[in-house]
Amino acid sequence: MTSTGITGQHAIVTGASRGFGRAIAIALSKAGAQVTGVARDPAPLTELAAELGGAFIPVAADAADPVRAGQLIDEHQPTILVLNAGAAPLARPIQRHTWQTFSRNWDVDVQHAFGWVREALLAPLPPGSVVVAMSSGAALRGSPLSGGYAGAKAAIRFLASYAAAESERDGLGIRFVSVLPQLTPATRLGAAAVAAYAARQGTDVPGYLAAAGPTLTAEQAGTAITDLITDPGLDQDAYLLTAGGLSPLPQ
Ligand SMILES: NC(=O)c1ccc[n+]([C@@H]2O[C@H](COP(=O)([O-])OP(=O)(O)OC[C@H]3O[C@@H](n4cnc5c(N)ncnc54)[C@H](OP(=O)(O)O)[C@@H]3O)[C@@H](O)[C@H]2O)c1
Repeated sequence: MTSTGITGQHAIVTGASRGFGRAIAIALSKAGAQVTGVARDPAPLTELAAELGGAFIPVAADAADPVRAGQLIDEHQPTILVLNAGAAPLARPIQRHTWQTFSRNWDVDVQHAFGWVREALLAPLPPGSVVVAMSSGAALRGSPLSGGYAGAKAAIRFLASYAAAESERDGLGIRFVSVLPQLTPATRLGAAAVAAYAARQGTDVPGYLAAAGPTLTAEQAGTAITDLITDPGLDQDAYLLTAGGLSPLPQ
């Protein structure tokens, strides 16, 4: 399969300071892109910048702030956006949530994806640009200990598909694709969720993971997202991401 080179292209990755986002920033940078990484805590971004050198620009900001989204798109003219930032949901059963804790992932994950997708369409990004929106496998099955998380992640998948239709309708040539990773303890967010589900099932984390099968790593996520951007054969609208790789999802 021929790959599309991204050398010299500018990518913005939200939630780039740790977990999937950090691995995605590293993988895109190794593939030749200039990467701007956004997260609130500046310290891990500065460390990543030291590791990647001039190929990485750290930006300490709230990715859900629409002003920052607009500013960063205007400033860097990216052709790749990876909308990965997400809040760790409070892990507890539904009756122990308040509306504020339940709706956290709507306020952060969905609001951020909405703001960046809107800016991508309005700019518009150049034809051939790719916008990857991070949903979750929870969008397919629910996530009963995570409040509004699964619904928020389903909304992000819808948002990407609506944007793809608007891009097509207006002949913009911008690709929008969503990715639904399986739950993994390889990141801070995932580790907390795995611990909660293990406790709920009355088992320990190793027992839970043994029953769940092969574990997705952050590095696999970085490689998969880069493949999605560079491999023209990966042209579907939504993909499940497991330790076995990317699998297209039906419309
Ligand atoms: N791990 C899993 O099992 C799993 C499964 C399916 C989907 N996902 C999704 O994958 C994405 C990445 O998650 P992860 O597992 O890598 O989590 P993680 O290790 O907790 O990393 C989350 C990243 O998002 C950033 N972030 C959070 N809120 C932000 C905000 N308002 N503005 C800017 N950055 C923000 C964090 O940095 P700061 O805190 O410094 O801002 C951090 O860089 C999330 O959207 C998550 O829902 C994860």
